[in-house]
Amino acid sequence: MKPKFECLVLIVLVSIFCADLAESKCSKQCDHHLALASYYVSDGADLSFISTLLQSTLNINADTILTYNKQKIPNKNSTQLQNITINVPFPCECIEDEFLGYIFNYSLQSGDYYKKVARKWYANLTTVDLLLKFNTYDPSMLPDYGTLNVPVTCSCGNSEVSEDFGLFITYPLRAGDTLESVAAETGLNTSYTTLLQSCNPGVNFSQGSGVVYIPGKDQNGLARGVIAGAVIGGVACFLLFAAFIYLGCRHRKKKLDPEAKFPSASSKDLSAPNGHHGPGSTLNVKDEEYSTSSTPPAHDGPASGLYKGITVGISVEFSYEELATATDNFSLANKIGKGGSGSVYYAELRGEKVAIKKMDMQSSRKFLVELNVLTHVHHLNMVRLIGYCVEGSLFLVYEYIENGNLSQHLRGSLGRDPLPWSTRVQIALDSARALEHIHEHTIPVYIHRNIKSASILIDKNFHGKVANFGLTRHTKEKASLLSSHLVGTFGYMAPEYAQCRDVSPKVDVYAFGVVLYELISGKQAVFKPNSSIVEYKSLMTLFEVTLNRPNNPMEDLRKLIDPRLGDDYPLDSVWKVSMLARECTLEDPQLRPSMRAVVVALMILSSIIDV
Ligand SMILES: Nc1ncnc2c1ncn2[C@@H]1O[C@H](COP(=O)(O)OP(=O)(O)O)[C@@H](O)[C@H]1O
Ligand SMILES: *[C@@H]1O[C@H](CO)[C@@H](O)[C@H](O)[C@H]1NC(C)=O
Ligand SMILES: *[C@@H]1O[C@H](CO)[C@@H](O)[C@H](O)[C@H]1NC(C)=O
Ligand SMILES: *[C@@H]1O[C@H](CO)[C@@H](O)[C@H](O)[C@H]1NC(C)=O
Ligand SMILES: *[C@@H]1O[C@H](CO)[C@@H](O)[C@H](O)[C@H]1NC(C)=O
Ligand SMILES: *[C@@H]1O[C@H](CO)[C@@H](O)[C@H](O)[C@H]1NC(C)=O
Ligand SMILES: *[C@@H]1O[C@H](CO)[C@@H](O)[C@H](O)[C@H]1NC(C)=O
Repeated sequence: MKPKFECLVLIVLVSIFCADLAESKCSKQCDHHLALASYYVSDGADLSFISTLLQSTLNINADTILTYNKQKIPNKNSTQLQNITINVPFPCECIEDEFLGYIFNYSLQSGDYYKKVARKWYANLTTVDLLLKFNTYDPSMLPDYGTLNVPVTCSCGNSEVSEDFGLFITYPLRAGDTLESVAAETGLNTSYTTLLQSCNPGVNFSQGSGVVYIPGKDQNGLARGVIAGAVIGGVACFLLFAAFIYLGCRHRKKKLDPEAKFPSASSKDLSAPNGHHGPGSTLNVKDEEYSTSSTPPAHDGPASGLYKGITVGISVEFSYEELATATDNFSLANKIGKGGSGSVYYAELRGEKVAIKKMDMQSSRKFLVELNVLTHVHHLNMVRLIGYCVEGSLFLVYEYIENGNLSQHLRGSLGRDPLPWSTRVQIALDSARALEHIHEHTIPVYIHRNIKSASILIDKNFHGKVANFGLTRHTKEKASLLSSHLVGTFGYMAPEYAQCRDVSPKVDVYAFGVVLYELISGKQAVFKPNSSIVEYKSLMTLFEVTLNRPNNPMEDLRKLIDPRLGDDYPLDSVWKVSMLARECTLEDPQLRPSMRAVVVALMILSSIIDV
């Protein structure tokens, strides 16, 4: 009887604990908890180097690390720090009310890039995705000096269940790991593996990547937790998927004109922080090398009835003083947005409502690209650039778009009401028109490369306008520049681009398909299912699985529709949009429709709804 009873108690405790772990949102009560990071020493790194990497408010040093790894490292002079995992204590805190973790400071060295920092220096304790979320450096050109924020997630257990559930190891799964080897690694009795697994439904401990949380030992070598929830890091999941895609990755890079150049951040004297720059002279936006010829007369196919690409205006140079005065010195009250390259402020300038994007000097490439593209390409469904300023920081001044971005509307943030289905289709059509324009009606052809719901602004009449052109490339650009760096936003990246750096307009078509899925579901491109704290799912995969179900996919689709729409949607129209999204996100870029075809499809759909 006795063992049975103990077993029961254990299971009950474990289920309470696991349920709690699954439901708990990040809360301040977890602050000041200790966690352990499992660091795999692959490169002969020594303890002082590791203690520098994982330096925290705990002020750890090599000796501290030794006390946590007595069995593995007999003494500080051990030279055999190779191919072993060591545990390093760090504080587990609630980060931005979002997740539990700690943000380490990493001093950049020359030659670093996000993937190297995540995989090599931090031994997969962090991911490129997390680094992108917490840093504003352009991933294509990290500076040689500076500090990177390195978030590492953790679990704090639950002291209400037991004082002992306090110490958890953030453990990056490696190739060759199994449930048993992970349990053994932590000194757990292998009979706990069943529980470890049952507590982590769906987690394959042999998958070779992703982070799991496992109960750790304190300095005295005692296992303090019985079991932990395991969580897969989103990127890891994506990497698996991407690796799978990679196998089928065909090298069909487009022939690109090797002569054509794009603005380089190092050119011109943008580095002079307070200098006054005249238009054309230092910025060289009219530089032959990368200027685009002006938009040819909008050559409107059957797709563009109401909206014609319009060509207006040239940009004005503003002084820093004027911008600072208009934004109340870039006050928080005037701040309306934050993107990958800087903050956006509201202002009234010369009688017009404007949005001012303030960027670091480091973002000069993005700045030049956006200035260049928006000076030369104009369209009713693209945000209009009014001017710029290059004193102290880099500023771009746009027309103010009243209703924020699409992502805010879909998430209901800032108290935004749900968008009715007809408006969603309209916004899709508007954005598709802008993309069609840059793909088919400009010389050279442009690829936006950063289409996502946050890049689509909504005007006062609830029409969509595409913004955020900082990553745009034209197809005449040097092949090496195009292919060397991975940029864009996780969840929207086409597989051939993520894996083969194959850039074509079809990369935008893919991202647009993901936006369509967002319009249908109201979910983010990468989201956390309710049942998990840190596990991420890709929206594309969710729809893919649902739409591929043999029986009654229409009913299954219903379950994915944004609950904020209530019953107020024509299922037939939603079905058609999801079929269109599916075509847009096909793995083979050549099978995806062109933006022109997408516009035509959406026009037909929107005309049916409007009637
Ligand atoms: N012209 C504008 N009018 C109103 N809000 C804007 C405007 N431009 C940008 N924003 C807001 O600022 C956010 C970030 O702008 P974005 O251009 O995407 O920045 P980044 O290039 O840094 O990613 C947008 O998602 C939007 O909410
Ligand atoms: C990391 O840098 C920030 C900003 O400079 C600082 O506030 C914080 O204390 C640093 N953290 C550690 C662990 O050094
Ligand atoms: C480690 O090396 C230092 C000098 O390099 C020496 O003083 C110390 O005694 C050594 N410790 C052990 C435990 O061998
Ligand atoms: C560590 O592992 C690598 C790859 O498995 C191997 O080549 C190397 O010899 C190992 N080093 C030690 C000291 O065991
Ligand atoms: C991190 O993960 C990558 C890919 O899974 C792997 O190649 C690399 O060796 C890992 N790094 C460490 C230190 O385990
Ligand atoms: C592991 O657990 C089993 C059953 O609970 C027990 O019989 C065994 O002695 C334990 N082994 C160790 C090493 O603690
Ligand atoms: C777990 O992943 C490994 C490696 O990808 C695979 O070989 C194995 O079949 C998977 N196991 C299960 C149960 O899915």
